[in-house]
Amino acid sequence: MAEEARRAPNDIRPSLTDEEVLEFCKTGILRLEGVIPESTNRWVFDYLDRENTDPHDLVRDEYFFDEVLLHPAVAGVIRSLLGAQFQLPDWMANHRLVGPVEASYWHIDAGSNFERACNLLQVFYIPQANTPEMGPTLFLPGSHLVPIAREDVERFGSLAGQQMTAAPAGSVFVTAYSIWHRQPPKADRSTRNLLKWVYWRTEQPERDWVADPNFDFGGADYTHSSDYFHGPARMWQSVPRVAEMFYWLCGKADEFHMVGGAGWPYSSTDPGFRADLP
Ligand SMILES: [Fe+2]
Repeated sequence: MAEEARRAPNDIRPSLTDEEVLEFCKTGILRLEGVIPESTNRWVFDYLDRENTDPHDLVRDEYFFDEVLLHPAVAGVIRSLLGAQFQLPDWMANHRLVGPVEASYWHIDAGSNFERACNLLQVFYIPQANTPEMGPTLFLPGSHLVPIAREDVERFGSLAGQQMTAAPAGSVFVTAYSIWHRQPPKADRSTRNLLKWVYWRTEQPERDWVADPNFDFGGADYTHSSDYFHGPARMWQSVPRVAEMFYWLCGKADEFHMVGGAGWPYSSTDPGFRADLP
């Protein structure tokens, strides 16, 4: 049975700026490399290595709460994107792989809705350094706003723009729930742990992160650039979705109005954008 979920304390300070929140709307992933200290990583790794360990027990552990779930570098990001008093996880999963393992398919997790909102965040934490041979998760930045059926996304192989989460020990990846992801082949003989959990919003969205009073909503760049078949390219189709998600996060969903056609939010990006559109 699930524990009663706890809420974040009131003294957590948001850490993201307008530009950083907008960047998260574009990519659906934020990398915090090596933020959890080595002593904590070692404790978590040893804990997971014990016989009969249930990773779920970590959500009852005060040390894990303080050192990982509410680590200032992590909590500041979550506080920025989910607001005050966000709900802490009441479950914990460990995607543990031992020895060589085949790749999994691209997939979206159950219940993905590709919403232009941010009511929950799925977070991944690696307590040990991950090399490419250890099967670190691949994510496709920007895909959290691209609706697709689960059975269709499974057909894809290597995707232009995919990002591998090979990273130092103590890295944390904050993701929009609907982002496409997969585990690549694990080629080496190591044992790999990947903890995963979800934080939830409990308050209405408002722009109470490190906001800049001079931020220009009308002139901001809502395009996400990704590696495409022939090099970097702007992902034009997502522009209104990115802008809508950002407005929602700002608590300004009522003020989001598409002009239509090639008008705002396309027009704010690049005076020459018409020539770029296919
Ligand atoms: Fe998954």
